[in-house]
Amino acid sequence: MKKRMILTEEQIADICKKLGSEITKTLQNSAKLPVIVGVMKGSMNFMMDLVRNIDMPIYTDYIQISSYNGTSSSGKVRLVKDLSFDCQDRTVVIVEDIVDTGYSMSYLIDHVKNHHPAKIYVCSLFDKACARKVDVKVDFVGKVLEGNDFLIGYGLDYYEIGRNIPYVYGATPEDVAELDAILAKDQNN
Ligand code: IMP
Ligand code: MG
Repeated sequence: MKKRMILTEEQIADICKKLGSEITKTLQNSAKLPVIVGVMKGSMNFMMDLVRNIDMPIYTDYIQISSYNGTSSSGKVRLVKDLSFDCQDRTVVIVEDIVDTGYSMSYLIDHVKNHHPAKIYVCSLFDKACARKVDVKVDFVGKVLEGNDFLIGYGLDYYEIGRNIPYVYGATPEDVAELDAILAKDQNN
């Protein structure tokens, strides 16, 4: 069955190029080298493509949180893995797959502040602006979503599967039923 395409591989490549050059322009005069921080696991695909389009020396680091439960945001955010690089007095760019209610990003910003960075920027492939419950500004955004679709692919998961799909699609009830069947079969094996 044909998927409801949200971003094709080509569109993703264009977005990474555009955001990479915006970030380069913004950060190139930083006193100290900036740190690009990928939020695991959702932003991993995006992070890899994005950093390859940043044309200056940077550090990279990773942080892992857990908040989502299937297809709805729980609002309860938990730190799974902290930063391992010392970000003190450096500009930090937090890279996410999607900012939805904003609970996760708001937690991340507060948490990263404890590491005393010079400045924090937020970069997200998607901004589900209409679903926001707490005020979070996305400084570098790939695509603003109008609707409240549940997205799968390119890092975005449904109960941890689908992250490896190279494009992003909006899940229909048929897609969800198909994925539920795959997950149920896996559980029974
Ligand atoms: P928030 O805390 O509601 O802003 O949710 C952010 C996190 O939930 C993101 O980092 C994603 O991992 C996950 N998420 C939000 N919307 C979607 C979606 O449509 N598909 C898959 N994951 C999502
Ligand atoms: Mg995520």
